[in-house]
Amino acid sequence: MVIERLVEPTAARDDPEEEKIEISLRPVTFDEYIGQEHLKNNLKLAISAVKKRADGSTLDHVLLYGPPGLGKTTMAGVIAHELGASLRVTSGPAIERAGDLASILTNLKDGDVLFIDEIHRLRRAVEEILYSAMEDYKLDIVIGKGPAARSVRLDLPHFTVIGATTRTGSLAGPLRDRFGIIHRLEYYKEPEIEQIIERTAGILKTEIKPEATELLAKRSRLTPRIANRLFKRVRDFADVNGDGIIDKVTAEKSLDLMEIDYLGLDPADRNMLKLMYDNYGDRPVGLATIAALTGDETTTIEDFYEPYLMQVGLLMRTPKGRVVTEKGKKHLQNTKNKV
Ligand code: ADE
Repeated sequence: MVIERLVEPTAARDDPEEEKIEISLRPVTFDEYIGQEHLKNNLKLAISAVKKRADGSTLDHVLLYGPPGLGKTTMAGVIAHELGASLRVTSGPAIERAGDLASILTNLKDGDVLFIDEIHRLRRAVEEILYSAMEDYKLDIVIGKGPAARSVRLDLPHFTVIGATTRTGSLAGPLRDRFGIIHRLEYYKEPEIEQIIERTAGILKTEIKPEATELLAKRSRLTPRIANRLFKRVRDFADVNGDGIIDKVTAEKSLDLMEIDYLGLDPADRNMLKLMYDNYGDRPVGLATIAALTGDETTTIEDFYEPYLMQVGLLMRTPKGRVVTEKGKKHLQNTKNKV
């Protein structure tokens, strides 16, 4: 059974209406982009240097990594905008054959930015083409088969790759080495999430009271995409059950209805913690065992559940496995009958 999780930080790709709103909320410039100050400062400097040189050189390839929903795609758009460049968007799994990548690369123009989401999921044969493309702006292709096969080298335009991944560990060394700028996106601070919610309310022309903003920010897993998604649900609730203004009571009622608790955990998170604790107590549990308990893939546990649960200190990774922390146990107690 596939459970739709409101707090799932993946993009809203299969819901065109939601995707449209998500795109309308995306900041376009560094000034509009809230948070990730360290990353922004580094990128601003690198972009200013490229612009100042004005000798046709391009920005170093950029690798952004970190949990989903923190704005990697958004940041790629901002970088392209600030460079005055065109952005071409693709993803690791979407590039099935070497020929697909060859066609993308030969259609780029000097200075273009190529965003490759989930770059850790590129196939090996495709990845190998990317090496010389990124390093020397050359495309090595083999024409023909068998003894008649020959290899040709084509010149490519000078472009910048922005790669995004939730896991740098799964990236092959040679690929990693080709990125001049490597940065981790951090979870946002609560006041930053509040600012993002206020900005969203402004764009969607909805009034939200400061206490409601605060409450929503606390339950958004320090993740802008989730903050915006919850905001839209709360706005619907306020429209249907009230005068459309989001106050604290409305926000609380609608979040409780969604069973999202005061730390932003949904029933699936609490279920995982509970299964771990009920079955293993204080003993460490292996990833595969957790996956078997919840019925999820191990990658789902690693990419979607764990990062935030660890960030807020409910779960700990040890060499022997995962352990529910004291805070995790307390949270289970506190949320036993209420959210
Ligand atoms: N919307 C989503 N992420 C954002 C961010 N980092 N800054 C401003 N608006 C956003």
